[in-house]
Order: sequence, then C-alpha cells, then structure tokens
Amino acid sequence: MANDRPIGIFDSGLGGLTITAAIRQALPHERLFYFGDTAHIPYGQRSLDEVRAFSVAITDALLAKGCKLIVVACNTASAAALSTLRERFPDVPFVGMEPAVKPAVEQTRTGVVGVLATSATFQSELYASVVVRFAHEVEVLREPCPGLVPTIERGEFDTPGTEALLRSWLEPMLQRNIDALVLACTHYPIVRPVIERIVGPGVRVIDPAPAVARQVQRMLEQNDRLAGSEANGGVECWTSGDPAIFVTMLERLGMGTCEVGRGLWGENGRLSLS
Ligand code: DGL
Repeated sequence: MANDRPIGIFDSGLGGLTITAAIRQALPHERLFYFGDTAHIPYGQRSLDEVRAFSVAITDALLAKGCKLIVVACNTASAAALSTLRERFPDVPFVGMEPAVKPAVEQTRTGVVGVLATSATFQSELYASVVVRFAHEVEVLREPCPGLVPTIERGEFDTPGTEALLRSWLEPMLQRNIDALVLACTHYPIVRPVIERIVGPGVRVIDPAPAVARQVQRMLEQNDRLAGSEANGGVECWTSGDPAIFVTMLERLGMGTCEVGRGLWGENGRLSLS
C-alpha cells in the first residue's frame, strides 16, 4: 500500500542537501523533510557523544513530524550515532553514511587512495572498521580538511581561498600518486568542481550520494513504505541557523525554492521544528 509520509533527512548544515538532491532525483514522488543543524556546526570538531545527543533529538523531532524513514546524511553523525539510533528507535528504518573506501580500493591502479572526511569521522570506530574490512594492500591517505565545512557554510563555494585550502591538502596526496579520492563528508561534494580542477582527470572522485539514494529506495521497498506513483513529492527544510543560505543551495542543487522553517533547540536539549 502507498505510504505518503515524508522521509526525514538531517546533517549539521548544508552538506546533507547533496544527498537530498540525489534522493529527489531517484524518488521524485517522495516528500523529503530536511533539517540542517547550523547552530551546532561543525559537528566534525565536536565529541562523538555530543553529536550522538544531537542526532537522537533531531530524530525525535523528525519522527514527531510523521517521518517514515530517517537518512543520517552526515558522515560524522553516522559514525557517532547510527548504532545508537537503531537501538533506540527499533521500528524506524535508518540509512546512514559510510566512507566509500570499498569502491576506491576496487578502482585504484596505483594502490594509493585519498579520503577527505572530518576529524570526528576519522576518530570513529566506523572509519577504522571500513579500513580494516576493505583496504587490504592499499595505502589510504587521510585528510580532515580543517576549516572547509565553515568555508562552505559561508557560501565560498569557488573562491581563491577555497581553492588554496583544497590545494594545500590535495597536492601532497597527488605527489604520493593517489588515483581515487573519497568524499567522506557530505559537505565536500558542494566543492567538487574545485576538487576536480585540482586533481585532474587521472583521479576518480567518489561521492556516495547516488548509492545512498539507491539504498533509501531499497529500504522503502523492503518496509513497504514507498509513496504512490501519483503522489507529488517535494522538499521542505528547517534549520537552526540562517535560512538564506539554504534557499541558495536548494536552487543551486536543482531543487527549486521552498520556505525554510526554524528549528529551535530548547534548554532541555529537545528540538522543535516550526
Ligand atoms: N556534513 C558532515 C559530514 O558528512 C559534517 C560537517 C561538520 O563538520 O559539521 O561529516
């Protein structure tokens, strides 16, 4: 039976909109409710405990809005909270992010791959387990990109400053002969054109967004929660920060315009979406 309830998606800010755009393209009949927790950005500089507490409260708020599935569109929050969320909300299907080390390892010819993530993601057990499971006989170079997430949140998508930051991390990786580069933070695909300009055509840049969208579709099918084929999908957004940049980013990613609502954090650590 068709299920027209929305899909809840969240991130620390704009980054998860790259995942939202891929879901929108794959599943045009679904309603997508997105929350960007800009008041607490960057998650990647916070402790995993803190990010876990935010993730639980955001999930509560999205479920209160009737969401039928939750996408943790943030590598840092997935690393910090996905297993806790699954334990705490056993009836809710979750889709999370995992650093795409596996496809990078499968594609490399030089045997050297790069991973761009946040420092919290690199400190997580999830990242360690992905490397242990998939990176046999391959060298994995990691870069936590300090300052890149706030730069993107300021709307500096392709400025000389953004390019200089990216060059300072990518040129040493190129010197060590990487031929695959994993974007393991959902903010980084926003600056993919700059990244591709620097690394050139010899390096495969891996953005997991299309694979995440396919996983959302599979989970909806398995749980019999797909929207009807005559349903009008769309995106609704909330943020705990400034809505203006969300409007710009939605347009930039081809999702049209929408009202961006406010997400208010209470002193009790609960979130309300108005
Ligand atoms: N977009 C997030 C991720 O995928 C985190 C950005 C942040 O540090 O807040 O890891």
